[in-house]
This record gives sequence, structure tokens and C-alpha cells, in this order.
Amino acid sequence: MPHYRRVGDLPKKRHTAHRDPSAHLRAEELMGLNGFSEESALLYHQYLPTAIRSAEAVETEPDRLYPNHPLLPRHLSLHQCKEGGDPVTGRQLILANDDVRVSYAVATETSPLVRNAIGDELAYVESGSATLESVFGALEVSEGDYVVIPTSTTHRWVVPGAGTGAGAGAEPVRILFAEATGHINVPDRYLSSRGQLKEGAPFCERDVRGPEGPLFIEEEDVEVLVRTRSGVTRYVYAHHPFDVVGWDGCLYPWALSIHDFEPIVGRIHQPPPVHQTFAGPSFVVCSFVPRLFDFDPEAIPVPYNHANVDSDEVLFYCGGDFMSRAGSGIGQGSISLHPSGFIHGPQPGSVEAALGKPRTEELAVMIDTFRPLQLGQAGLDVEDDAYPWTWAKQL
Ligand SMILES: [Fe+2]
Repeated sequence: MPHYRRVGDLPKKRHTAHRDPSAHLRAEELMGLNGFSEESALLYHQYLPTAIRSAEAVETEPDRLYPNHPLLPRHLSLHQCKEGGDPVTGRQLILANDDVRVSYAVATETSPLVRNAIGDELAYVESGSATLESVFGALEVSEGDYVVIPTSTTHRWVVPGAGTGAGAGAEPVRILFAEATGHINVPDRYLSSRGQLKEGAPFCERDVRGPEGPLFIEEEDVEVLVRTRSGVTRYVYAHHPFDVVGWDGCLYPWALSIHDFEPIVGRIHQPPPVHQTFAGPSFVVCSFVPRLFDFDPEAIPVPYNHANVDSDEVLFYCGGDFMSRAGSGIGQGSISLHPSGFIHGPQPGSVEAALGKPRTEELAVMIDTFRPLQLGQAGLDVEDDAYPWTWAKQL
């Protein structure tokens, strides 16, 4: 996020000695994008953030991915996915290509400390709540929140109700993840040349939340899992990575509620880019939120049949009604995949049914990828095989 934030205890000038009350010299860590030529954050650790005591490779199962062949539209019912585990190691891989991995967790446990060195992660909280704890502090998230976690941010997801203490047995937190191979940003066209969100953008700085803190945890011999393109490495650090006393800069995890996304409507149907929320490497994320329908008396409120010439279209249905697909089996927790090369559109009969309707209550997250997606085993396990034929069944 390009907006400056300052948290905790900092010296007046950068790169000057910052001592605690007993004159112990704290350690700087500059975390910077693109060779330190773009956004960065400067963190102050109580102890050296470089001190590792061990490093070992972690055996992991390779992703099992299946091409979408023969080419079919897919309906995947994510509410049939397994419940349990934590929001990191409990992710179930639904769809993936070289640019993005889409996974889903129904988490009941707190995750280990982790760091994804491959790219930024975008989380969407479908239901429940959690705390994203990181070197930057604590960020509380709940239903409807998007969370962007920058590449190589050491963090963990704290799930309420995990363990046997107070609150144990709470509802699981359901999170959809998009793990990018690269960075996830606000679309450039929403930003002024100097980085302010412009008038007319569907959200603004007041809607963005950053971490509170810092956490300042002192602990020795702490495990951190680091994911790279070569696999997962388990480090033991001499000191807890959350020993940060303060930081400032423009690089940190941030949250935006889908309920703060202001829809853009028109007299006739608006194209998908008006719903865009994020831009990733070779993919975009859009938010479809409750809104007034197109207001011309003759306007057709539901989408036209369409061909995504250059993208695979993934829609995650996460609230409200889904009038354009009523009768197809799509419902809360469904993902539809409408791939490049396939023409799709509203359910037969829904155009007529929609005429004159004033508004929609739908809530959905769309991920459009510019390269074809393959199916993960967890996605195939919850596939509705009847879906491809639902456009024809009423003809
Ligand atoms: Fe579509």
C-alpha cells in the first residue's frame, strides 16, 4: 500500500542508533520491493533478525494439478471442503496456474509462523474472524475483509476458538486465498501520479486498515516456515521475529472490507472492470456488491452472454442472491470457472425474470486470470458434474 504508516517506537532519523533504556542497540531491518527502488518499510528489532540456529528442508507433497480438458465450465462447491487445520497448512488447492494459486481453508487452528517468499497473498474472509499477526503488529479481520500480505512478511493467522481455552469450539474461519507469483496492488488507474486514491475510485484511504501494535514478543528458539519456489524451509530463529518495537513506511499488510467497496452503476449494464479491486501479476480481482441495477427502463440487468477471449473467469459466490444463475445449483460458497474459449451467460429464463428489478443483493469475488487455470485435487473433489449442461436443460 503506498500510504505512509508509523507504528511504535522509532528514532528521529533513519539509520541512526536506536537504543532501549538499558542502552542495548536495537537492529534495523529494511524490507523493500524491487531492489529497494519502490515501497519499503523500516523495522526496528530488539534482537538481530538475521540470527538463525538451524535450517532444514520440509518434505511437502507436490501440487497435483489437472488441465481443464475437455474444456468445460466448472462448478465447485467449496462448502463441501474439509473442515479443520489452520489457514496456512490447511489450505486446499482449488485452481492454479503459474501466476496464482487459489485455495480455501475452513480453519479451526492457529497457523505456524510463516513467510511466503514467492509473492503477495490476498485473503478473502468469507465468514468467521481471525487476527493476522505479523512483524508489523496485529490486524483483526472478519467476514467480508480482503487482506493483502506482502511477499516475505513473517506472519501467522490466529484463529479464535483454537485450542482448549476460552472460546474453544467457535465457528471455523472460512478464507479464500489467492497466492500470487509477484505483487498485488491497487489498480494504477485508481491512483494519482503520486499515489493517492483518486476521487471516483471505488474505495479510499479511510477504508484501508493497517496493523496495530507492534506485538513485541520476546522468545527464543522460534520456528518459522519459509516458502520459496524450491520448497519449504524450516528455520529456527534465535529470537522471535515479532520482537519489533516500531516501524514505518509504505509496505505492510492491509485490509479492506468488501462492504466498503462503492459500486459504480450506469443506465445500462457496466462491464466487469468497474468492479475491479486489485491487480495481480496476470490476474485481476473484482468485487460484485449489493447495488442498484441499471436504470434505463429497457435495460437488461443481468449480464449478456459473453466470451472471455483472454481470461479464465473465477467467481466465488459469498453472499446475497445470484439471480443470473438461479437454477444452476450455484449458491453460497460456490466457485464457478468459466474458461477462455467457452461462451457463458445467465441462466435460461433469468433475462426475462430480471427485467424491471431495481437492485441486486449479490456478493461475489471474481478472479480473472490471463493464463488458463488448472484444477487442484480439492477442487475436483467438490465438483458438481451436472453444471456444464445447465444452460441446455430448459431448452
Ligand atoms: Fe462471466
